[in-house]
Amino acid sequence: MKELFQTIRKAFRLEGEILEILPLTDGGIHGTYQIRLDTGKIYIFQQINTGVFRNPDAVMRNIRKTASYLKEHAPEMRILHFYQTGQGEYLFQNWRVMDAIDGYSLKTCTNLHQIHQAGKAFGAFRKAVSGMDSAGLEQTISGFHDTRAYFQNLLNLKSSLPEMEILRSWQEQACFVCDCYRKGELPFQVTHGDMKCSNLLFDRQTNQPTAVIDWDTVMSGMPVYDFGDAVRSFASNVSSSEPDLSRVGISMPKFEAFATGWLSEHPDRNLLIPAVFSVTVELAVRYLTDYLQGNIYFRITHPEQNLIRARNQIRLAQEILKHQSEMEEFL
Ligand SMILES: Nc1ncnc2c1ncn2[C@@H]1O[C@H](COP(=O)(O)OP(=O)(O)O)[C@@H](O)[C@H]1O
Ligand SMILES: [Mg+2]
Repeated sequence: MKELFQTIRKAFRLEGEILEILPLTDGGIHGTYQIRLDTGKIYIFQQINTGVFRNPDAVMRNIRKTASYLKEHAPEMRILHFYQTGQGEYLFQNWRVMDAIDGYSLKTCTNLHQIHQAGKAFGAFRKAVSGMDSAGLEQTISGFHDTRAYFQNLLNLKSSLPEMEILRSWQEQACFVCDCYRKGELPFQVTHGDMKCSNLLFDRQTNQPTAVIDWDTVMSGMPVYDFGDAVRSFASNVSSSEPDLSRVGISMPKFEAFATGWLSEHPDRNLLIPAVFSVTVELAVRYLTDYLQGNIYFRITHPEQNLIRARNQIRLAQEILKHQSEMEEFL
C-alpha cells in the first residue's frame, strides 16, 4: 500500500516522505485515506468509486466549478482544495488528492446542539449555492433522485413481497415533489446531493461545524431533497441497516433542532416536509430494487441486507407520515 501512496504522492508533486497512512471509514463510497508527510502537512488521498461515478472527470469539473463559485460568492465558506498532477490533471488512475481539513466527522449525531449547528451549516451551503447556475454542472449519476424512474424500475420487476405493494400504493404521493420540479413549477438548482451526518466536519475544540465535505454529487437537482435527506440522516433514531423495526422512528426534538438551524439560514419552507417522505420512500424503492436485482449497487455484508434496509425505510416513511402534520405545524 505504501508504494502505491508513494506513487500517488509523486504524481501530485507533494514534497516530503510519508509518515502515516490512516484509513478513514466514515464514508460509504470511496476508499479514503489520511496521509501525513514529514513536512507536517496532511492530505486526503481518495480513490473514486467508478461503479457509482462512471465519469470521474465530470465529477472533478463539477467540484471545481462549485469551489470557484463559492470562493467568489461565499468567501467565508470552507472549500475543498484538490491538487493537480504534473500533467495538470485532477485525477491519477482515479485517485485524487485534497487538503485534509482539521476536524472530525460522525456517522450519527445525538447531541441536539450539534444537530442544530449541522442544520445551520447545511442551510448555509444551500443558501451559498442558490445563486449558482445549475445548468453549468454535469449530471454525474444518471437518473439521480428521479423518483418516478426509480419507481418504474422497481415496478417492472416481478415480486410477491408485501413491501412491493406498500411502495406501489405510495407512488403518487412520493412522486409529488419530483413532479413539481419536472413540470417546471419549481426550478432545479445546485444541490449538494448527499447531506448526511458523515459529510460534515466538526472542529475538535469547539465542536462546531467547520466544513461541508463530499461534493461528488453536487449537481442540478431539487434543493428540498437535500433537506429531506438531511432530516432522514439527523432525525432518525437508528441506522438504515437496523433490522429491529420497532426501533425505527423519527425524533421530533432532533427534527426541530435541525430544521430551526436550516431555516435560520434559508427560510423557504415550501415542500420541505413532503420531501422528507419522498426521499425516504425513494430510498426504500432503491433498496428493494437492488435486493430483487441481486445487490449490484449497495454494498452488503449479508444477502438479506438490502431487503432489511428497504423494510427499515418503509417503516421510517410510515413514522414520517405519522409526524407529518406535527412537522408542518412546527415549521
Ligand atoms: N477534506 C477532508 N478533510 C478531512 N477529512 C475528510 C476530508 N474529506 C473526506 N474526509 C473524511 O473521509 C470520509 C469519507 O470521505 P467522503 O468524501 O465523504 O467519501 P464517501 O463518498 O465515501 O462518503 C468523510 O466522512 C470524512 O471523515
Ligand atoms: Mg461521505
